Amino acid sequence: MPEVILPRTFAMIKPDIISSGREEEVLNGFNIAAQKKIHLTIDEAKSFYKEHEGKPFYETLTSWISSCSPIIALILEKEDAVQAWRQAIGPTNSIKAKEEAPDSIRAMFGTDGSLNAVHGSDSLESAEREINFFFSTPNGSQPHILVTQDDI
Ligand code: PPS
Repeated sequence: MPEVILPRTFAMIKPDIISSGREEEVLNGFNIAAQKKIHLTIDEAKSFYKEHEGKPFYETLTSWISSCSPIIALILEKEDAVQAWRQAIGPTNSIKAKEEAPDSIRAMFGTDGSLNAVHGSDSLESAEREINFFFSTPNGSQPHILVTQDDI
């Protein structure tokens, strides 16, 4: 039987959800192709969010992502994965999400524009880059099956 390869996106569970112990609740409806629980260094956080360097929130965001609890990086699979995950997480600012998309993940699990629970790639190109950032192997391949790190 041929392997069915579903579209993929990159997701991150941010420290605010991890410290609340509710990370499992948010992934309903998505296949997890790979996941990795890691504590980012400040340099890794700055590299991941490099496109936002110079913006007023850059230092706050990268310090927070690297200084509290770990994050969980995920490859999620679903039909139209990028759009589906963006739809599921809702507007970037959790205060706005609570008003405009109360069933979204950022509305239910986030707090405000800083503590917003999750990240999702905004395009196929971003998804590929972000998946490679966390999951590429020395030979450049990406995992096609569930990869679970020992510390999850
Ligand atoms: S922009 O300028 O429109 O591209 O920025 P935006 O898409 O709104 O946000 C880009 C990422 O920065 C995070 N962000 C913040 N983090 C902490 N504090 C503040 N004030 C803040 N404002 C924006 C935002 O959550 C986005 O990161 P991700 O990981 O995609 O959620």
